[in-house]
Amino acid sequence: MSTEFSFRLMGKDGAARRGEISMPRGTIQTPAFMPVGTGGTVKAMYLDQVRELGSDIILGNTYHLMLRPGAERVARLGGLHEFARWPYPILTDSGGFQVMSLSQLRKVTEQGVTFRSHIDGAAYEMSPERSIEIQGLLDSDIQMQLDECVALPAKPKEIERAMELSLRWAERCKVAFGDQPGKAMFGIVQGGDSPPLRLKSAQALSALDLKGYAVGGLAVGEPQNVMLDMLEVTCPALPENKPRYLMGVGTPDDILKSVARGIDMFDCVMPTRAGRHGLAFTRRGKVNLRNARHADDPRPLDEESNCPATRDYSRAYLHHLVKSGEALGAMLLTWNNLAYYQSLMRDIREAIEGGRFESRAGEITEDWARGDL
Ligand code: GUN
Repeated sequence: MSTEFSFRLMGKDGAARRGEISMPRGTIQTPAFMPVGTGGTVKAMYLDQVRELGSDIILGNTYHLMLRPGAERVARLGGLHEFARWPYPILTDSGGFQVMSLSQLRKVTEQGVTFRSHIDGAAYEMSPERSIEIQGLLDSDIQMQLDECVALPAKPKEIERAMELSLRWAERCKVAFGDQPGKAMFGIVQGGDSPPLRLKSAQALSALDLKGYAVGGLAVGEPQNVMLDMLEVTCPALPENKPRYLMGVGTPDDILKSVARGIDMFDCVMPTRAGRHGLAFTRRGKVNLRNARHADDPRPLDEESNCPATRDYSRAYLHHLVKSGEALGAMLLTWNNLAYYQSLMRDIREAIEGGRFESRAGEITEDWARGDL
C-alpha cells in the first residue's frame, strides 16, 4: 500500500482520462463517483454494500459533522473511518458551500465565515485554518480548501470578489495543511459563468502546486451548456498530472459530458436522494416507482443487473414499499441507484481504456433516450 498520495494518469481517449489515485487507505480508480456520506452515513445504505458496489471513496461534510456530533468528539472516538466503520479513503468538503446553502445569518469576511447552525441556531466561526483543522480531526484523506461559492445568476463583480477571496483562502489552507505525505488538500476553482475569471482562478491555483483541483461553483442554477463551457476553459488550465474533481455533479448525462472534457472525480446526492424519493436510475433512464403503472408489474427493474435490488425484487413490490413509506423502499432504491452509478463509472473507465469512450457514451445516451424497459 502506498505511503504517499499520488495520481497516475494511465491513459487518455480524447480529453477523457483514465487514472489511479493511491494513498495509504486505498486506491481510487478514475473516473470515480464518490457516494455522499454527509453525516458519516451514506443514507439508507450499509457501508459494506457501498463498498461492494465498487466505491473506492466516499464523501463527508465538515459542516454537518462539526455541528453534530462535533469534530473533537469524532477525533476522540478514533476519527471518521473508525466511527463509521469505513477504512477506505474519505474526502471531506470544507463547509463553505454547506454554510451558504443551509445555515442562517451567515456573514463572510476576509477572516472567514460566521453563521448559525440550522439545527439549534448556535453561533459558529469558520476560518480557512479552522476548516482544515476540523478536516484533520475527522482524519479526512482528501481535504478541500474553504471557498465561497456564489449561486448563479450573479453579478460579475460579486463572482470576481468570491473567486479572489477563495484564492486567498486557498493559500491559507495550503499553509494550515502543511506537509502530510499520505493525504491531500485540493484547491477549488471558482469564477461563476465567466471564462476569464475561471481561467484566472485555475492558473493561480495551479501555481500553488496543490495535490489536486476541484471545479466548484457549477450546477448552481446555470444551464448544462454553461457548465460544460466552463469545464472547457478550466480543465486545460489545470496541470495534467493532478486529479480534477467536479463538485456536486451530477446526472449520468452530466458525468459523461464532463468526463469527455477531462474530469476525473464526481460526487452528487442525486442517486441517494432520488432513491429515498421513489426514483430509480436504470440503463434505460429514470423510473418513478410511485407511478401506478408499476402496481401489478411482476418484472424487476432490470433483470440483467447483478444488483439484487435491481434484479430480484418486483416493480410491484417496490411500488408498494414506496407508496407505504417503508424504509426498505428507500434502502432498495438507493442500492439500485448507487449500483447503476458505479456500473456507469466502470463502463466509462473500460471505454476509455479501449479507446472507444465517445462511441460508448453515445450508446449509453441512446439507451437512456429509448425509455424504460
Ligand atoms: N459542492 C458543490 N459545489 C461546491 C463548491 O463550489 N464549493 C464547495 N466547497 N463545495 C461544493
